[in-house]
Amino acid sequence: MPTISTVTLNDGTVFPEVGLGTYKLREEEGIAAIVAAISSGYRLLDSAVNYENEAEVGAAVRRAGEELGVARDDLIVTTKIPGRDHGYDSAMASAQRSLATLGLDRIDLYLIHWPNPSVGKYLETWQAMIALREGGLVGSVGVSNFTEAMLTQLIDQTGVTPAVNQVELHPYFPQDRLRAFHTEHGIRTESWSPLARRSELLSEPVIGQIAAELGVSPTQVVVRWHVQLGSTPIPKSADPQRQIENADVFGFTLSDQQVAAISGLERGRLWDGDPETHEEM
Ligand SMILES: NC(=O)c1ccc[n+]([C@@H]2O[C@H](COP(=O)([O-])OP(=O)(O)OC[C@H]3O[C@@H](n4cnc5c(N)ncnc54)[C@H](OP(=O)(O)O)[C@@H]3O)[C@@H](O)[C@H]2O)c1
Repeated sequence: MPTISTVTLNDGTVFPEVGLGTYKLREEEGIAAIVAAISSGYRLLDSAVNYENEAEVGAAVRRAGEELGVARDDLIVTTKIPGRDHGYDSAMASAQRSLATLGLDRIDLYLIHWPNPSVGKYLETWQAMIALREGGLVGSVGVSNFTEAMLTQLIDQTGVTPAVNQVELHPYFPQDRLRAFHTEHGIRTESWSPLARRSELLSEPVIGQIAAELGVSPTQVVVRWHVQLGSTPIPKSADPQRQIENADVFGFTLSDQQVAAISGLERGRLWDGDPETHEEM
């Protein structure tokens, strides 16, 4: 079983360097896939209201407790407030609904899914999340798809720095500038679609060559690249063998030249997800 290394967030939470994406993991098959990942050492689970699988994630957490003896407190369950629930009171109500759907008494990492700047309520939403954390219903508070300017606004207006900003990040879009800002402010970067949703990334010659040099798979090269950039990737896989492969990246190291060669694949966002203009409800 791979051992996933950890880092410490700005609020003291011990946080895995690799987590599990769960988008599209649904129903019994989805629960089984999440339990398989937990049995292989995953401790960070990434859900969202809009994935319509909070119930499955909660069920997997309970099953992992009953069948594998994995303590609830050892797992970090993430969910995200959708755009339609922005605003102070709406965010409070959204959290209660997520807790009920998850069937848990705490959301370990709670994120604002998208900033939706035209709605103009992410600051209010952030204030609600801080109150939820103070009330003990939420462990860590963070955001997703926030720009430097938006992060600065949250920090300046509330004095609370998000623990995490989960953003599109893969070798085609390494986000150097945003990551430097995160480092400066003690925000942990999380990479969504870290494998670029498989696409042609895993067949890029430069990745294949490095994989051959190190005797690992192309996917492991990509996951390791995230780890060495200081970001926590959350690759999604429904397959237990691929889950193990994706987490088994702590027994080798990429050289600085190899990291730079992979970052050289940069070409920009893949899915038109500019947070200034892309909005999700
Ligand atoms: N915050 C946001 O706005 C946002 C946006 C998008 C995604 N996310 C989160 O990020 C997570 C990951 O992103 P993603 O699901 O879009 O894409 P991804 O993790 O980059 O790629 C997932 C795809 O890669 C395949 N795969 C996984 N491991 C593999 C391996 N070892 N070899 C070959 N193929 C492999 C999976 O297939 P199999 O399942 O068949 O293995 C699946 O088709 C999501 O699940 C979600 O939790 C967040």
